[in-house]
Amino acid sequence: MRKPKISVIGAGYVGLCTAVGFASKNYNVVACDVDEEKIAKINAGIPPFHEPGLQEKLSDCLKKGNLKGVVGQTERVILETDLTFVAVGTPSKPDGSIDLKYMESAVCSIGKALKQKDTYHVTIIKSTVVPGTTQNTVKPILERESKKAVGKDFGLCMNPEFLRQGSAFQDTINADRVVIGSIDERSGNVLEDLYKGFYSTRLPTIIRTSLSTAELIKYASNSMLATKISFINTIANICEQIPGADVKVVATAMGLDKRIGPLFLDAGLGYGGSCFPKDIKALIACSKSLGYDPELLDSVEQVNKMQPLKAVMFCKDMLGDLEGKKIAILGLAFKPDTDDMREARVIPIIHQLLKEGANITAYDPVAIPVAKSIFKNQIQFADSAINCLKNADCCILVTEWPEFKKLTPEDFIKNMRQPVLIDGRRVYDPETFVRKMTFVALGLGQSSN
Ligand code: UGA
Repeated sequence: MRKPKISVIGAGYVGLCTAVGFASKNYNVVACDVDEEKIAKINAGIPPFHEPGLQEKLSDCLKKGNLKGVVGQTERVILETDLTFVAVGTPSKPDGSIDLKYMESAVCSIGKALKQKDTYHVTIIKSTVVPGTTQNTVKPILERESKKAVGKDFGLCMNPEFLRQGSAFQDTINADRVVIGSIDERSGNVLEDLYKGFYSTRLPTIIRTSLSTAELIKYASNSMLATKISFINTIANICEQIPGADVKVVATAMGLDKRIGPLFLDAGLGYGGSCFPKDIKALIACSKSLGYDPELLDSVEQVNKMQPLKAVMFCKDMLGDLEGKKIAILGLAFKPDTDDMREARVIPIIHQLLKEGANITAYDPVAIPVAKSIFKNQIQFADSAINCLKNADCCILVTEWPEFKKLTPEDFIKNMRQPVLIDGRRVYDPETFVRKMTFVALGLGQSSN
């Protein structure tokens, strides 16, 4: 049987990983985006963002001729393919709700193409959209532009994505589950068959459901993970008030309970990235617009807003007035293995330190170019972790890159003006560090030292 031809609209994280994922399994894929520079990079084999392993896979797919990137031309691409994944961005509006302008424009082009198309085509929404969007916004636009009936003349599915930055390609190839929301049985069957072919013998559990349930599954999953993080950060904050208490041990013990599980219980300076902060806000806004105030999610957000500022508080506790003090920041990306700084916890930390008059030098293995565009010349950048520490009065570890875990107390003592370390991600062994230098770890009852 001929493999279906696939188009992907939107070549961001989700779109490009989906495109490369299918192309790596010998599907013929066209990735379409309005951003010329992005597509030029993709066609040259360079992913437009840092993602381990993606460059090799992308080059392979281009060499085999399974993947090509095109600028615009959405209508032509729809006519030439059988299935279209829509993976355009859904940014936040100031009130927390999502902005559907890119989605509406993409769907409008798809509808126009479907007007001219005689063969059955399935449109699959992969972007994160609040419950009701596919049914109430996407479907009417498709029908208006195509003058045809969704569910009869062509198909429509909602298929959320659960990949993580930093392991995006692996997550695409080895999913825990595939969620297929569909407007009708036939659309869902087409997508299910696609995934059966894609995963072959390693097929994950497939959940078939309605469009709005599929949409909600994505938000509920991210909200649960964000809740786990704010929960453990709350416990960390309590631990700090109890001499001898350590959130790391609490989390390890809690995680052994199968009902709780060990993952996403790493206390730290809070969650960032392009997903959790935006998705929690969107679910809160959606729920409020429907008449239900989800207070739990408000608290999750509130804890996350305050958590990074604790690094500044620790700093002041130890150094007093921060005016003119030199602070070394290790880690800028919102998490390791990415250069993404969207909603990175380091941003409020640096802004607050600057307000307090501190001089900041920062280092990150890959995110410095992105950080330069955010902070311009307000802060300095070092070319290594050791150089970042030079003559600093205090160091704050913000992102747990593996290379920072290798630093020893001697590295801090030899290079800093005063060896004061704030471990914002709990990567260092307190016993080793406390004996040799001034060491504050998030979630550790300090007077035990
Ligand atoms: C998250 C989800 O994990 C993915 O399943 C989802 O598909 C994705 O959002 C999305 O909606 O597209 P991602 O944002 O790439 O993925 O990053 P995570 O690994 O989930 O980390 C998010 C933030 O939480 C990071 O800032 C990280 O440092 C923080 N975190 C994570 C903690 O503070 N503690 C933890 O235990 C785990």
